[in-house]
Amino acid sequence: MRAYIASTGFHVPPNRVTNFDLVTRYGIDTTNEWIVQRTGIEARHFSADGEGTADIALPAARDAIARAGLEAGDIDLIVFATLSPEHAFPGSGCVLQALLGLPGVPAMDVRNQCSGFLYALASAKGFVESGMAKNVLVVGGEKHSAALDLTTAGRAVACLFGDGAGAVVVRGTKDSEPNKDRGIHWMNLGADGRYADALTQKVWDNRKSPFIWKDPETGKNVVKPEMMWCQMDGKLVFKNAVEKMILSVVGMCMENKIEPSDLDLVVCHQANMRINEYVRDQLGLPPEKVPNNIQKYGNTTAATIPILLAELERDGRLKSGMKVALVGFGSGFTWGSAYIIW
Ligand SMILES: CC(C)(COP(=O)(O)OP(=O)(O)OC[C@H]1O[C@@H](n2cnc3c(N)ncnc32)[C@H](O)[C@@H]1OP(=O)(O)O)[C@@H](O)C(=O)NCCC(=O)NCCS
Repeated sequence: MRAYIASTGFHVPPNRVTNFDLVTRYGIDTTNEWIVQRTGIEARHFSADGEGTADIALPAARDAIARAGLEAGDIDLIVFATLSPEHAFPGSGCVLQALLGLPGVPAMDVRNQCSGFLYALASAKGFVESGMAKNVLVVGGEKHSAALDLTTAGRAVACLFGDGAGAVVVRGTKDSEPNKDRGIHWMNLGADGRYADALTQKVWDNRKSPFIWKDPETGKNVVKPEMMWCQMDGKLVFKNAVEKMILSVVGMCMENKIEPSDLDLVVCHQANMRINEYVRDQLGLPPEKVPNNIQKYGNTTAATIPILLAELERDGRLKSGMKVALVGFGSGFTWGSAYIIW
């Protein structure tokens, strides 16, 4: 038996915020040209006040469950990848489980940022292939908008991220399966914690007591701006992302005895269109094999890969029997890749 992705689903909140809106609605000193030139991003979606990560994920989850021909009650495990849970604890997996009305069904969070979906998919593959679960709902979902410094001081990071969620149902192939090769054939995960500070949003530091800094003059606990907002060494992230993503795909091809040109699609994490164009060029692939949707959604972190899979499936570019690579890189640093026959 081999685990496979039975269905995809996605949702982005309706409020679309263009690069022009960042200037006119938020008063940020930036330009559409600067953002498009360096990142490829034209717009992102921001959710409403009162709407949390699991709320954004709920329609994506329902979409994936319905497209798998299942009812919510058929799901026997939820794996939720996010760096933006509603609270420090419990995780968004539990919040989503309650929204789906599935008391008793195990739910867990994966905290691996932009590689989160791939780490969650690897977990689901392990659960299914070991026989511990039958129908795993794997979700990547983020609400970034509440944690962005939407002022000129925060522009280098704020222009990159958007809200959204993608979901897949992972099941095991049956002996009667007509598409014998179907499934997640191979996965590889990696991390290098020496770079933990290169892309981080700290908020608190529990090496100190209290874990949120106390101003000695006022006696009040205060989250300083450098703790509140994401801090990123953009150039270091860019360099490591291209290197690790290229090596991941080349290693995948070697392990599976295929050439990059044998791949029908390489579905990259959507952090920056320039990163993906560089990866594509180094692999010698044409643009149609390395699709992007960052133009529309920005970086939705754990949600980028499942959202893109869902869109590709909807518009007929992702079809049964295709050889597909998934690859991502992000904070930690962490990275991962998957070789799938769809
Ligand atoms: C974020 C990124 C686009 C920034 O590009 P960069 O060329 O490294 O830009 P820098 O941060 O060095 O800034 C260059 C200048 O542009 C300015 N700038 C930054 N953001 C800006 C914005 N949104 N609009 C206008 N100017 C901006 C900076 O203030 C700086 O000005 P200065 O030279 O006067 O100080 C790029 O580093 C990147 O994409 N890195 C990877 C990020 C990523 O993928 N993160 C998620 C990983 S999962």
